[in-house]
Amino acid sequence: MFLKKRIRQGFFSLFVAASLLPAWAFAGALGNIDRLENKNVLFVITSHDQLGDSHNKTGYWLEELAAPYEILSEAGANITLASPLGGKPPVDPISLKSAAQSKYTKMFKHDQQAQEALSKTLVLTSVHPEDYDAVFYPGGHGPLYDLADNQDSIRLIEDFAKAKKPVAVLCHSPSVLKNVKDIRGDFLVNGRKITSFSDSEEAGAALARKYYWVPLFLQKLGNGHTYSLAKLPQNQLMEKLHLKGVLPFLTEDMLKESGAHYQRKPNWEAFVVDDVTADGGVILSGQNPQSSSLLAKKLVEILVSK
Ligand SMILES: *[C@@H]1O[C@H](CO)[C@@H](O)[C@H](O)[C@H]1NC(C)=O
Ligand SMILES: *[C@@H]1O[C@H](CO)[C@@H](O)[C@H](O)[C@H]1NC(C)=O
Repeated sequence: MFLKKRIRQGFFSLFVAASLLPAWAFAGALGNIDRLENKNVLFVITSHDQLGDSHNKTGYWLEELAAPYEILSEAGANITLASPLGGKPPVDPISLKSAAQSKYTKMFKHDQQAQEALSKTLVLTSVHPEDYDAVFYPGGHGPLYDLADNQDSIRLIEDFAKAKKPVAVLCHSPSVLKNVKDIRGDFLVNGRKITSFSDSEEAGAALARKYYWVPLFLQKLGNGHTYSLAKLPQNQLMEKLHLKGVLPFLTEDMLKESGAHYQRKPNWEAFVVDDVTADGGVILSGQNPQSSSLLAKKLVEILVSK
């Protein structure tokens, strides 16, 4: 009797194992299993909340923090948030409007671990680059003001680049590369393929700021006008958009002036560029808020292969 029962149990376990095997193999093939368990990823968020002297608020763009946070943490990465001033960073209020929400902004709002980390970001000065495998900067206009010239941020990116660790930037955050040099003393972006929020999207955003409730598909009707505005020299464009003295510089123009091979898609289309140097250095960039999940998935791919 006893033996029979053991044999039956044995068969049963074998049956359970055999039926779970395909599911396990399938999950593995899809890559749904934790794959970045041993990877530490640093997010550097702006602490700046004023849009120049316009008395308008700015900060980080919610979707550009939320989607990469949720996608990387679901992939198993250990994420650390830091900002120049530490503590809770300011969010661009326009990025809280319903037109700017996604499934990731909702997940992020209900992610207690994420909200806890966000309420007490580390002070950037206290961060050790050697503790992390990659760094990511969410966009929003904030980084133009407090990260492009920030010595801690510049040193941090230079360390990551030297160590061939991925540097990922999105929308306005390629601005953080403005003063970053490579080991020869050239601009890091010189000769590299990169994208960012484009001048025509900047025009679109400036025109839409009064009409932020207008759905994106209607804003797209104004694209032709923004493309012709974007052909103007930087000074004239800034003046026309009332951004003179408001924005310190335009991200697309800064990248071109620093020798980058600037690439872009039409306004508000998802677009990601990964530039890998012969020696394995990676700059990963995304054009706009629509590119945030594409960029995050690409970063997971790069970290899995490292
Ligand atoms: C996750 O990151 C934190 C902060 O950098 C670090 O203290 C901790 O050791 C990391 N955990 C793992 C499992 O690497
Ligand atoms: C500031 O906000 C007001 C009202 O929301 C808007 O009309 C104006 O264009 C904004 N200015 C800038 C520089 O964004």
